[in-house]
Amino acid sequence: MTAIDPRPSVIAERLSGVKRIIAVTGWKGGIGKSVTATTLALLLARQGHKVGLFDLDFAGASDHLILGAKGIFPKEEKGLEPPVYEGVKFMSVVFFSENKAVPLRGANVSDAIIELLAITQWGELDFLVLDMPPGINDAALDVMRFARKAEVLAVTTPSLLAHDVLARSMDLYKKLKVPVLGVLENMADKAGPRKLRRDPALEKALGRPEKLLGTAFAKDLARAAARLGLKPRRA
Ligand SMILES: Nc1ncnc2c1ncn2[C@@H]1O[C@H](COP(=O)(O)OP(=O)(O)OP(=O)(O)O)[C@@H](O)[C@H]1O
Ligand SMILES: [Mg+2]
Repeated sequence: MTAIDPRPSVIAERLSGVKRIIAVTGWKGGIGKSVTATTLALLLARQGHKVGLFDLDFAGASDHLILGAKGIFPKEEKGLEPPVYEGVKFMSVVFFSENKAVPLRGANVSDAIIELLAITQWGELDFLVLDMPPGINDAALDVMRFARKAEVLAVTTPSLLAHDVLARSMDLYKKLKVPVLGVLENMADKAGPRKLRRDPALEKALGRPEKLLGTAFAKDLARAAARLGLKPRRA
């Protein structure tokens, strides 16, 4: 007899109060997924939305550094309740790895992510932004499988190589029937509807949410987000 896996229904229940799940993905490393995911969460929170941010990158969690979040930790309350930082409910794998590299292999990473999805109490949210690990591996596929509502926001760069990888990733999302909300070209030379400028001020703004939101990068992202339909709620 095969045992019934209770996790999909537990995760569906945990995410039942979340209106939209935005999975910020990119098939390459270092192209700006984390700054995009974190800045997007901050922007949406400033616009009056209820927002969660979940850093799922076991190999290189960095959203806590981008936020400048120190000394916060989830509360154990019928599962785990994420701390609120700068108006964003924040959960990260870093809470469980104590800044050490986590020696987990593929299947274990998947299990850990599924476990975190199953125990985190997000409550009512307008948006849950997921900062995905680079590429599409078992863990990333599992997130898409378990977080059924997830819509992909893909990040790429102007490089020809990034575009080639992007095209392949789009094919796969199509096959998996995962909706793609949009593609953002980061580190662009000029602003554009779906372009986020390369902004030398960004590096100095890391860890300082107010400064981060004032960068040209954040302004471009706010404009792109509005175009993608991630608009503020009407009063
Ligand atoms: N538009 C931009 N202008 C200037 N610097 C940028 C821009 N976007 C990202 N960066 C810088 O590039 C570096 C990588 O960004 P980030 O960590 O967000 O990428 P990532 O895709 O999440 O990387 P990883 O694959 O390691 O998770 C960071 O130092 C970030 O500050
Ligand atoms: Mg990252």
